[in-house]
Amino acid sequence: MVLALTASGPALAQSTASADGALLYRERCAGCHEGGAVRAPDFATLRQMSPDRVLSSLRSGSMSTQGQGLSEAQLDHLSRFVAGAAVAENTGPSNGKCPDAVSLAEALAKPRWNGWGANVSQHRFQSAEMARLGAEDVPRLKLKWAFGFPGATRADAQPTLMSGTLFVGSRSGKVYALDARSGCTHWVFEVGVGVRSAITIAASGEGWSAYFGDQRGNAYAVDAVTGTLRWKTHIDNHPAALITGAPTLGDGVLYVPVSSLEEVSGSNPRYECCSFRGSLVALEAATGKILWQSYTISQTPSPVRKNALGTQLWGPSGAPVWSSPAIDPDRRMIYVTTGDSYSDPPAATSDAFIAFRMDTGELAWSRQMTAGDAFTVACTGADRTNCPEAKGPDLDFGSSPILVKLPDGRRLLIAGQKSGVVHAIDPDHEGAIVWQRRLGRGGSLGGVQWGSAVDQDNVYVAVSDIGVRAAAEGTAGARKSPFGGSNSFALDPSIGGGIYALKLMTGEIVWHTPHPGCGDAPGCSPAQSAAVTAIPGAVFSGGLDGHLRAYAASDGRIVWDVDTAKDYSTVNGVAAHGGSLDGPGAVVVDGMLYVNSGYGFFGTAPGNALLAFSIDGK
Ligand code: HEC
Repeated sequence: MVLALTASGPALAQSTASADGALLYRERCAGCHEGGAVRAPDFATLRQMSPDRVLSSLRSGSMSTQGQGLSEAQLDHLSRFVAGAAVAENTGPSNGKCPDAVSLAEALAKPRWNGWGANVSQHRFQSAEMARLGAEDVPRLKLKWAFGFPGATRADAQPTLMSGTLFVGSRSGKVYALDARSGCTHWVFEVGVGVRSAITIAASGEGWSAYFGDQRGNAYAVDAVTGTLRWKTHIDNHPAALITGAPTLGDGVLYVPVSSLEEVSGSNPRYECCSFRGSLVALEAATGKILWQSYTISQTPSPVRKNALGTQLWGPSGAPVWSSPAIDPDRRMIYVTTGDSYSDPPAATSDAFIAFRMDTGELAWSRQMTAGDAFTVACTGADRTNCPEAKGPDLDFGSSPILVKLPDGRRLLIAGQKSGVVHAIDPDHEGAIVWQRRLGRGGSLGGVQWGSAVDQDNVYVAVSDIGVRAAAEGTAGARKSPFGGSNSFALDPSIGGGIYALKLMTGEIVWHTPHPGCGDAPGCSPAQSAAVTAIPGAVFSGGLDGHLRAYAASDGRIVWDVDTAKDYSTVNGVAAHGGSLDGPGAVVVDGMLYVNSGYGFFGTAPGNALLAFSIDGK
C-alpha cells in the first residue's frame, strides 16, 4: 500500500506527529485487515468493537506488536478510528438476575455436558439419557431464550451444562453462570480478558469448581456455586500464549493446552520470530499448583539466522495445542493434536498427534501428519520478510483427538486436519496409521477445522474449505476498504461445506450431504467450520451462513434447519444478533439445545448471541 504523503521535511515530521487514526490505520493495519492476512477480522468487524477493546488489544493483547512504538495519542486516535462510533456497551446483568443460587447437589445424577467433548475421550456425543431429546423431536426445536454477550463480535466459547446451570465464557471478558431453562443470570465472573475455552466443572478441593483458561495464558478455578475466584495460575510466560482448548480433568489433575498468536505477531519483520512452543500443563486441580509443563517441541528455540532487516530469527517454534486433550485412563496417557511450526527449522512434532504420560508429562510418542509446515501470517501478507523459508501450508490441527474403542477391542485416535484429511491412528502402536480419508481441499481456514463427533458406528466430519475471491466494490458480500481501492474481497458462495459420515472401522464414506447453498446472500459461504455434535439418531453442524442444521445419522437427510443470523431480544437485556456459526458446536442436554451464534472475521458475520432451543419452545 503506497502512502500518499506529499509533505516533506519539517512538515512531514509534524504531520506524522499529529498523524490521525485513519492514516495510522492505513499505514500499519490495512495491509492485514483489508484482506491481506487470512485470519484478520475485516474492517467492518473491527468497527463493531469498542475503542477500549481495540486499545487493549494494541497495548497488551494480540495486536501488541502492531501497536509497538506508538505514542499514547496515536494509540488513542487509532483505536477511536478503528472502533468507529461503537455504542456504549450495555454490560448487564442487572437485567435477568436469577432469584435463586446455583445448586450442584447430586450434579452427577443429572443430565450434563461437561467440557468440550462431553467426555474425556472427546466424543462430542450425547447419550439418550443425558440428551433427553429424541431424533424424532429435533424438527420441533424452537427458540426458548436468547442471551447477549455485551460488546462481543464473536460468540466463540462453548457452554457447559451441569445440574441445570449453564457455564459459559465470552469475548467480553466475563464468565457467566445462567439458569439452563430460563437463561437468567446466577453470577458473572470478571476475567478482564476473553475466555474462549469451554469450561470443565468438577468437585475437587473445597467443592465444585469451574475450570477454564483465558486469552493471556492464565488458568482459573472459580467456585461454581458462588462465582468467586479459588485460584488463578499463569501457566506460560510467553507474551503471545493463550488458551483456547478446554482443560480436561482426570484424577484431580487439570490438563491445560497452551496455544498462541505468535504466528500473527511473528509476521512483523522487526519481530524476532519465533520463540513460543506449544505445551500441555498439568495442574493440581485443588490448588492450581503446576505439576509439570511438557512442550510439544522438546528443543528450546535458538538463534537461526537474521532476516533481510537484520532481525534475529529463532527456531524451532510453534506446534501450539488449540484443542482440548483426550485422556486415556487405561494406558495413563493424554493425547493432544498440534498446529503448525512458526519458524525454520520446522519441528518434527507440528501438525501431529502427541501422547504424553499422564503421571510425568514425558512425551511418549508423536505422529506427524504434515512435515515442513512452518508458517506465519507474513506468508499471506503484503510484507513476506518473516515468512519462513519452509513456506508451510498452515495445516494445523484445530480438532481434539477422539479416542474410540471398536467392537473388536482395537482402539483408535481420530482427528480431522485443516489439510482436509481425517486420520485414524492406533494409540496402542505409537500412532501407526490405520486409515486416512481426504474430504476437502484443505488450506489455512480448513479443511476440517474445529472438530468431529462419533457414535458407536461412525465419525461425523464437517468440511470448511472456505473460499475467498476478489470482488468488485458494491457487489453482494464485498467487504469494502474504508479507503476505496481494489482490494475488496468476498466469501465465495460456490466453494466449501458439506458433512460426511465415515465408518469408524475403515473410514469408508457412509453418506455425504453437501451444503444446500446460500445463493448470493452477502457474506454467504457454504463452509461448515464449527465443531459437530451427535445424539442418538441425529447430528448437528453449524455453517458460516448462520444456519444450524440437523442430519439423520442413518442417511444424512437434513431434518432441521434454523437460521440463527437474526436480531434477538435477550433475557439479559443486551442487544444481540446472531451471525456465522464457527468454533464450538451445539450442546444438547435435558431436552434442550444450546448454540453460540456470531463469528466475525474475514467476511463472516459477527454476532454475540447464545441461543437456547427446546421442544416447541416450551
Ligand atoms: C500482520 C497482520 C496484521 C496487522 C499488521 C495488524 N493486524 Fe490486527 N489482527 C490480525 C489478525 C490475524 C487478527 C486475529 C487474531 C485472532 O485470531 O484473534 C487480528 C486481530 C485484531 C483485533 C481484534 C483483537 C481481539 O481482541 O479480538 C483488533 C482490534 C486489531 N487486530 C486491530 C489492529 C490494528 C489497530 C492494527 C494496526 C495497528 C492491526 N490490527 C494490525 C492481523 C494483523
